[in-house]
Amino acid sequence: MSTPTLDKHSAALDAAEDGAAHLVTVTFRIRRFNPEVSEDASWEDFQLEIDPKERVLDALHKIKWEQDGTLTFRRSCAHGICGSDAMRINGRNRLACKTLIKDINPEKPITVEAIKGLTVMKDLVVDMEPFFQAYRDVMPFLITTGNEPTRERRQSAEDRERFDDTTKCILCAACTSSCPVFWNDGQYFGPAAIVNAHRFIFDSRDEGGEQRLEILNDKDGVWRCRTTFNCTDACPRGIEVTKAIQEVKRALITRRF
Ligand code: SF4
Ligand code: FES
Repeated sequence: MSTPTLDKHSAALDAAEDGAAHLVTVTFRIRRFNPEVSEDASWEDFQLEIDPKERVLDALHKIKWEQDGTLTFRRSCAHGICGSDAMRINGRNRLACKTLIKDINPEKPITVEAIKGLTVMKDLVVDMEPFFQAYRDVMPFLITTGNEPTRERRQSAEDRERFDDTTKCILCAACTSSCPVFWNDGQYFGPAAIVNAHRFIFDSRDEGGEQRLEILNDKDGVWRCRTTFNCTDACPRGIEVTKAIQEVKRALITRRF
């Protein structure tokens, strides 16, 4: 009866050793900023023994818990749903919780910095208020007049499909903060606000399309888009952001939506 117990232990040891064998040393080069300490931001390196199958968010947690508790970043769900941990990782906007270390060349230092175009408050945390103000400005809610239904508002599968892509937005700001127009002039509504306007403009149940189109016809609206596709490349939800912006532009010209 003792053999199976031994076998079980040695299997566990093998598994542990196997796990340890996969740890690699990775350098994380993080852009630090603390206005209470200095007006200037600077890079700081942290070395970690970590399984490359872990995510950048796991590495940030390890650094915060084991090396420097002052490291500041946002996260909530840790599973690509809440949109709170968008950051520039190796120069590209990504969600830290969806980025595996093995996918971004851990043999070189991995750079992590705050998203661009919004004021950095501390380390990787930016002031999201201008981003959310643009979102609020496009009235991201169903607008109807009268005819209150006693049950749900019915919609055909085809009509629902028309705006399906833009319902996937998690408001992470990866698109808006990857847009060169937004970097140069924070007054631009930005891709995320337009995506969320699109979601309602093309909803057959909504009656506020004209109002939203007029809001986006502004000098800081859709016409500022230069079709660079940075937003589409950055979106962690795979939304065709540039296409949605083009559709809103077309709706403004044709008034058909
Ligand atoms: S469109 Fe994509 S990148 Fe932009 S805020 Fe929404 S989820 Fe994030
Ligand atoms: S922590 Fe929620 S999306 Fe990454």
